[in-house]
Amino acid sequence: MQIRPIHATDDAFADWYDVHLSARLADHPTGPQWLEHELKVVYEGSEHHGARLWLAEDHGKAVGAAVLGLPLRDNLTLAEPEVFVRPEESRRGIGSALLATLDEASKAEGRSSQLLYLEGPTGTDHTSGTAFAEKHGFTRRITEISRVQRPPFDLDGIAAAEEAARPHAAGYRIVTWRDRAPDDLVDEYARLEQRMSTDAPLGELNYEEEAWDAPRIRSSEQRRERMRRGTWVAAAVGPDGSMAGVTEIALSHDSDDHGFQDATIVDPRHRGHRLGLLLKAANLRRLLADRPGLQSVWTWNADSNAHMIAINETLGYRVAGWSAGYQRSL
Ligand SMILES: CC(C)(COP(=O)(O)OP(=O)(O)OC[C@H]1O[C@@H](n2cnc3c(N)ncnc32)[C@H](O)[C@@H]1OP(=O)(O)O)[C@@H](O)C(=O)NCCC(=O)NCCS
Repeated sequence: MQIRPIHATDDAFADWYDVHLSARLADHPTGPQWLEHELKVVYEGSEHHGARLWLAEDHGKAVGAAVLGLPLRDNLTLAEPEVFVRPEESRRGIGSALLATLDEASKAEGRSSQLLYLEGPTGTDHTSGTAFAEKHGFTRRITEISRVQRPPFDLDGIAAAEEAARPHAAGYRIVTWRDRAPDDLVDEYARLEQRMSTDAPLGELNYEEEAWDAPRIRSSEQRRERMRRGTWVAAAVGPDGSMAGVTEIALSHDSDDHGFQDATIVDPRHRGHRLGLLLKAANLRRLLADRPGLQSVWTWNADSNAHMIAINETLGYRVAGWSAGYQRSL
């Protein structure tokens, strides 16, 4: 078995993706998956976040795949390893050999801590990944619950929840956009994105606040476009003109299968006005108007985030699985 570095633009990335998908489906057959061209853009890296890839081959057959994510603007002591092994090749030491390669690279990049996320379906809180991570000294620092909603979407129920919430939000304006934030809101949007990185519950994770500014927003919008993903955003603008909250859903231009609810945040100064519900409801309605064939929307919340979970349940999301953050020092 040989391990060699590859790049997302190499032909070998098709093998990398194939291994990755086979490993993920074995642990979580009903979970949502990245499309190949989306991950290719993610792993081409950016000035804010780098990625290095390796492929493990045995007699010319791709059997294992690994990636090391490297934050480049914040969290500079952190590395994000991920290892995937074809299910039929497991328990032969391939995963451990790939992780050893990632450890060496993490140290060479000056990183002293590693963070990875694992996902699984409801009914068990263990997978091959949790056993592997624990064997290698990672400990679970946070558990998030994934929820999904599928057709038929309860548009009347969503409208009724919005109606009940609206009187609590007098003076706030809900603004929606697709793909590119309006120029006059981009700085405020960046401020909330930065806050979001540490404002959502982090459990026992060691994670620094991310550094966001308007150029980073624009670069991430361009990358999403290159991934052929649309982004639906709803923001609340307060009486003083500042952005009080924001929520986002991403969906591929090419497939109605999986929408992803991304960050939702309400600035602490503006809480108590039901803005979380109003934002998510407005955004979901807009998305469904644009893409009536949508088959699912996924969302993740820390199990301790009772408030956001209540909003999601009201909007029709139901528990589908979990994701867990594991960390270790090097
Ligand atoms: C987790 C994964 C990478 C393991 O790959 P692998 O090549 O089987 O790993 P190794 O053979 O090096 O296993 C090392 C040890 O991890 C533990 N382990 C790995 N898979 C396990 C499983 N399915 N059940 C229980 N323990 C397991 C064992 O302690 C194993 O040592 P042993 O075989 O001597 O008992 C692979 O199953 C996979 O791709 N899973 C899906 C993706 C994922 O969760 N990746 C996790 C890390 S980011």
